[in-house]
Amino acid sequence: MLVSGFDLAQLAENASQRGRQLLKDLQTYLERDYERRGLPDFGIEKAAEIVGCTSQHLRDKEGGGSLPQPRTARVGSLDRRVYNYNEINQIRRLLKRDANRPTSCVRLIFSNLKGGVGKTSHALHLSHYAAREGFRVLVVDLDPQATLTTAFGLVPGLNVEADDDIGPSLTADPELIRQNIKRTRWNEIDLVPAQLSLQYTDWQMLQARDDSQRLGPLPQRLSHALERVADRYDLIVMDTPPALGMLSLNAIAAADMILMPITPNFYDIASSVQYFAIVSQLASTYANVLRVRQLSLLMTRTDSAPETRTNITLLNKAYGEFLLTNRMPQTRELQRATGDQMSLYEIEVPRGARETYLKAIDAMNAVNAEIMQHVWQVWRATEMAPSVEVRHGQ
Ligand SMILES: Nc1ncnc2c1ncn2[C@@H]1O[C@H](COP(=O)(O)OP(=O)(O)O)[C@@H](O)[C@H]1O
Ligand SMILES: [Mg+2]
Repeated sequence: MLVSGFDLAQLAENASQRGRQLLKDLQTYLERDYERRGLPDFGIEKAAEIVGCTSQHLRDKEGGGSLPQPRTARVGSLDRRVYNYNEINQIRRLLKRDANRPTSCVRLIFSNLKGGVGKTSHALHLSHYAAREGFRVLVVDLDPQATLTTAFGLVPGLNVEADDDIGPSLTADPELIRQNIKRTRWNEIDLVPAQLSLQYTDWQMLQARDDSQRLGPLPQRLSHALERVADRYDLIVMDTPPALGMLSLNAIAAADMILMPITPNFYDIASSVQYFAIVSQLASTYANVLRVRQLSLLMTRTDSAPETRTNITLLNKAYGEFLLTNRMPQTRELQRATGDQMSLYEIEVPRGARETYLKAIDAMNAVNAEIMQHVWQVWRATEMAPSVEVRHGQ
């Protein structure tokens, strides 16, 4: 029905005025919520397990003064020692259990043309897993939808402004990446956030194409920007949008490893075939600028339906050597956690059944341990010979 005299300009202006107040209220709420949540606390048994020693060893070191006095929390009538990941990493450093460190930085992207396959969820969980192991991680959110950014407590329009994302480093000055790195509540993780106008970066990069002298060749700008800061990190984890524009091409050109989450259903398999065709085309066009050493497929959101099993068999037949052995099953725990802007690693008390939670975290740990094994291959290969080719499965 047509309404005569409808004043869209006035209406939109009103909505935008009210929206500004809404954003302020939202910010207050989110900041309070983020502060409140912090990182989870663990007891001494769990802390010792993560560090890789006995709880008695921790007690002895704390008693002897070579470790700081831990925080305590009152449980019933007892004061129990509690630790969070940041404190656990500090303990690891003080006990010199972080000696086995890589000397190079591996860059890894989660990539797939399809949305909803788990790119963002796995980028989040891998970064937390690696930080939990004591590695220094830079997370770069390349998706204008900024889901990963919000999982780290930053919200576009509230505490992420238009120039805070990776865009300016690709279109104005690669040095700008330094000022767009934000700290997170994880001491080991920094973040280059995303926000909506990152959508225009493709277009802006093409406008600035004549700036190649200063900014580097078009597909390599992200790689050039990352080089400025790579020495501060062991691992750079990037989340990409479900699109193959200039930004995604830059991500591929910046990556040592491509992780492609894939759900074993017909449409996702079909789109993976298209994805490989496009990557193959890009790779031959830009062969001289790529540094990718490994491509792995990660099956996600699997269930026990008969058609899923058939599809898994077919995927194995087609891509066997590229498939990670471990898969991530469909689980409500992950859905709940990401719905709360948290990872499974940040949950202190699961909302559902404890058994479901433990199953989910076991599966996630197995996936991440396998990915980290491949990361180690690249770390070692880089140390031995910077140009050595590492094939998946070797
Ligand atoms: N293994 C899983 N089990 C249950 N839900 C999942 C799983 N992996 C991802 N999801 C959910 O699916 C949705 C899309 O996942 P996401 O990681 O954002 O995918 P993408 O980044 O590829 O679009 C999210 O709501 C997430 O919680
Ligand atoms: Mg995503």
